[in-house]
Amino acid sequence: MHVETKPGDFGPPRDEQELAAAADIMMQSYAMAPAAATAWTQRVGRESLRLLREGGHVAGTLVSIPMGQWYGGRDVPIVGVGGVGVSPIHRGQGTATRLMQHLLREARESGAPLSTLYPATQPLYRRVGYEHAGARYEVRVQIPMLDVSERTLTLRPIEAKDEAAITACYQGQAQTRQGWLARGPYVWSRVYVPRDGTATGYLVEGDSGVQGYLYVVRKSLAGWKQELFLSDVVATTPAAARRILAFLGEHRSLGTEAVWYGGADDPLLMLLREQSYSVKLDMHWMVRVLDVAKALEARGWPAGLSGALHLEVQDALLPENHGRFVLEVSDGAARVKRGGEGRLRLDVKALASLYTGFHSAEALRRVGALESDETSVRSAVSLFHGPQPSIRDMF
Ligand SMILES: CC(C)(COP(=O)(O)OP(=O)(O)OC[C@H]1O[C@@H](n2cnc3c(N)ncnc32)[C@H](O)[C@@H]1OP(=O)(O)O)[C@@H](O)C(=O)NCCC(=O)NCCS
Repeated sequence: MHVETKPGDFGPPRDEQELAAAADIMMQSYAMAPAAATAWTQRVGRESLRLLREGGHVAGTLVSIPMGQWYGGRDVPIVGVGGVGVSPIHRGQGTATRLMQHLLREARESGAPLSTLYPATQPLYRRVGYEHAGARYEVRVQIPMLDVSERTLTLRPIEAKDEAAITACYQGQAQTRQGWLARGPYVWSRVYVPRDGTATGYLVEGDSGVQGYLYVVRKSLAGWKQELFLSDVVATTPAAARRILAFLGEHRSLGTEAVWYGGADDPLLMLLREQSYSVKLDMHWMVRVLDVAKALEARGWPAGLSGALHLEVQDALLPENHGRFVLEVSDGAARVKRGGEGRLRLDVKALASLYTGFHSAEALRRVGALESDETSVRSAVSLFHGPQPSIRDMF
C-alpha cells in the first residue's frame, strides 16, 4: 500500500484526544498498564511527543529528546529518540519508516548534528541512516565481596541544595567518557525516578567538598534478599570510589549484587580485589549523522594530532549530506570544507560508527562499509581513535 504523508501530518499532539491516542499506542506497543502509559506521556511532556497521522488517525508516535553527547571532551547536541511505537492495526505498512523520516528532517532543521537511539529492531533504523555507534553494558558486582574499610569520607542523604554539585560531578566524569550523555531534564528525571522505583540519593563529602554520589533503588528478591540498582554512581576521587564501594558492601547481610550501567571499562572495577563481577552487553546504541560538516566540527579531537581526510559521503535521505568534504584536524579542533578528492568513500551509516570511534576505518573497510586508499585509511584510524563509546542512561 502506498501512503504519502505531508509535513502537517507530523507533529506534537494537537489536543487531549491525540494525547490519549499516543498513550494508547504506548500501552499496546510496550505492554504497559493504561495508567502507566498515561503517566509516561505526562512525564515526557506533550512538547516532546511526535505523532504521525495517517488516514485521519494517529498511527504512530515517538519521543524526541534534545540533549547532548560528549565526544572528544565536547558536548555535541543530539536528538535522542525513544518510545517509537506504531498502532498494531497500522503495522507493516511503512508507518514507522515515515515517522522516522519526518523526525530526521525536523531534527536536522533544529540544528542538532546527530540523533541517537536504542533500537528494538535494527532494519527500521538502518533504513533511515542509523548505525551501531556505541554500547551500553550491565555491570553486576557481588556485594559480599566488597571491602568495607574505607571511612575517611562522610556519606549522607542527598538534599535539594546538592543539585548543582551533583550535576557538576556527573559532568566532570561524563565529559571524559566518549558518548556519555550531556543530560537534559528528562534523563535526569530517570536517574531520580527510574522505571521501577524511586531512587534514594547519597552524597560523599570530604574536606574539599562533594566528591561523589550514588542513586540507589533497592529491589527485593526471594528470601528477604535484595539487589541494589544504581541509576547513577559517580566518584571524582579514589577515596570517594572506595567509600561508595564500602557503602554498597554495608548492604551485605541481605544484599546480593549491585547493578549499574555504562562502559565495559568502568574504572570502579579496578578497585575490586577479585573479579567478583560480571560485565554484559545490554545493547548497542545507534547514531544518525544529521549534518556531516557540523558533526565533525562540533566534536573534540585528540590534542597534538593533525591531519586531513578527503571524504565522500552517500546519504539518500538527507541530500545536504551527500557529496565530498575535506576534514582538517589540528589543535584538538576540526574544520570542514565542501569538495576535495573523495578518497575515503562511505555511506552516512558507516560514518556514524567511524565518528564515535566505535569501529575503526580499517574494520569498516573489512566489512565492506568503506572504500579507501591505504594512506587515507591509516589517517582515519588515527584521527578517529579514542576510548570505546558507551552510555550509562536508557532513554
Ligand atoms: C517496530 C515497529 C515500530 C515497526 O512499525 P511499522 O510501521 O510496522 O514498521 P515499518 O512498516 O515502517 O517497517 C520498517 C521495518 O521495521 C522492521 N519491523 C517492522 N515491524 C517489525 C516487528 N514487528 N518486529 C521487528 N521488526 C519489525 C522491518 O525490518 C521493517 O522493514 P521490512 O518490512 O522491509 O522488513 C512496530 O512494530 C511497533 O510499534 N512495535 C512495538 C514497539 C517497538 O518495538 N518499538 C521499537 C522500539 S525501538
